[in-house]
Amino acid sequence: LRRRQVDETLSPFRLSQEQLQLVKTRMRAGLEAGLKSKGPSAIKMLPSFVYRTPDGTEYGQYLALDLGGTNFRVLLVNFKQGLQQNPRLYHKIYTIPLGIMQGSGEELFDHIAECVSDFLDYMGMKNARLPAGFTFSFPCKQTSIDTGTLVSWTKRFKATDCEGHDVVNMLREAIKRRNEFDLDIAAVVNDTVATMMSCAFEDPQCEIGLIAGTGTNVCYMEELKNIEKIGQKTGNKDGAEGTAEGEEDEQDDGRERERKEGHAEIPKMCINTEWGGLGDDGSLDDIITPYDTEVDQNSLNPGKQRFEKLTSGMYLGEVVRQVLLDLTRGSLLFRGHVTEALKTPGIFQTKYLSHIESDRLALLQVRSILQQLGLDSTCDDSIIVKEVCGAVSRRAAQLCGAGMAAVVDKIRENRGLDHLNVTVGVDGTLYKLHPHFSSILQETARILAPQCNVTFLPSEEGGGGKGAALITAVARQKLEM
Ligand code: BG6
Ligand code: GLC
Repeated sequence: LRRRQVDETLSPFRLSQEQLQLVKTRMRAGLEAGLKSKGPSAIKMLPSFVYRTPDGTEYGQYLALDLGGTNFRVLLVNFKQGLQQNPRLYHKIYTIPLGIMQGSGEELFDHIAECVSDFLDYMGMKNARLPAGFTFSFPCKQTSIDTGTLVSWTKRFKATDCEGHDVVNMLREAIKRRNEFDLDIAAVVNDTVATMMSCAFEDPQCEIGLIAGTGTNVCYMEELKNIEKIGQKTGNKDGAEGTAEGEEDEQDDGRERERKEGHAEIPKMCINTEWGGLGDDGSLDDIITPYDTEVDQNSLNPGKQRFEKLTSGMYLGEVVRQVLLDLTRGSLLFRGHVTEALKTPGIFQTKYLSHIESDRLALLQVRSILQQLGLDSTCDDSIIVKEVCGAVSRRAAQLCGAGMAAVVDKIRENRGLDHLNVTVGVDGTLYKLHPHFSSILQETARILAPQCNVTFLPSEEGGGGKGAALITAVARQKLEM
């Protein structure tokens, strides 16, 4: 009986091929709608003003800031001229206390400036006025490579007076207030874009960036002619003249380069999809379970980022916890005792889920992890917990795979190809730590996009910073051309 009830509870998490196919179709429709729409859309499809991936000629020394994932990092990235080899990276990790993530915007940016100051002291480079790139892992509306207006906070951040403001400006102001060092901030980029750039430095076929971490998101190289919202001067409400003209300049630069290299390519721009917003218009309501609804309602942004809440590290543990609570209330688990530990939001971090699901782990070890989290379990309990984790993380990986299938098929169709070879640069704790997530994601993408051969390339440690440095280098070189 217990077995049957557990199966019943988990059955809404087990998606059929038909359901996954539908998710792919909806993702595709969402991408198209976002490209067209000048107003709000579930999938934002934000232009990044990055027109190409690196070509190996990038050089120089850059400071990179990387905010929005598990860690805040400050890095110094040094590319040697003429050698297409990996740059030298120096970095320090700083914590951002929750009170600062959710305090005032000024405090947040003052804290960032303080960390940069500490890093420059540490490196002995306080007087250098380095060119800097800012990896900022939230949705930003950009009109150029070095401006970005925060659309809305996601994940764990909710600092006041930032939404609707240019984050580069906020950073510059904080540095001014500190009046201790100076930076030449040349680029602001999403983590997906930074990851794509970092991986493309190794593999020129890399034209997609994927993050499966605290949050989830994808960027990819789209043909400029398909990006209707920046293609025309009319109706662009963001002080658009500069945008449209700037864009023509960039296109000319691109063509110039291609002429030099002897192969005329189609002008492209990297689009930060913000695919985590799929479903915000109700399009995923048929697969969303009551557990997901509970997680959404308890979050900082109810009703928003519905796809992200089904698929990313920050929320998976919470979905698991809601299922365990339900099973416990039904006396199917933990002898029916709803303990304080089980009522604690956030106890199942990605690293614990990853441990629990590791095949190498004996059940006794699963029990000892649960014990550490304050949950007393029997052997049967631990089997059920492991199963719940498996169902939730499998669904997450399949959904991401279905989304990826939509993206690669779009690129393939853009080019009118029967078959596409493409590489996806990937980062994020869920992708890198979880024992099964990456293989299920890849398998699902392979099945749902059979005409594409997709290689997944995990970025190296510090990829977000390296990518920001590369984009800064590209932006600088353009100025020098
Ligand atoms: C990093 C990026 O490499 O990956 C971060 O540079 C990003 O900015 C992160 O957010 C995603 O991983 P996580 O798991 O820390 O959210
Ligand atoms: C969230 C952010 C997005 C970011 C992703 C991964 O979805 O909105 O900008 O890329 O998390 O960090």
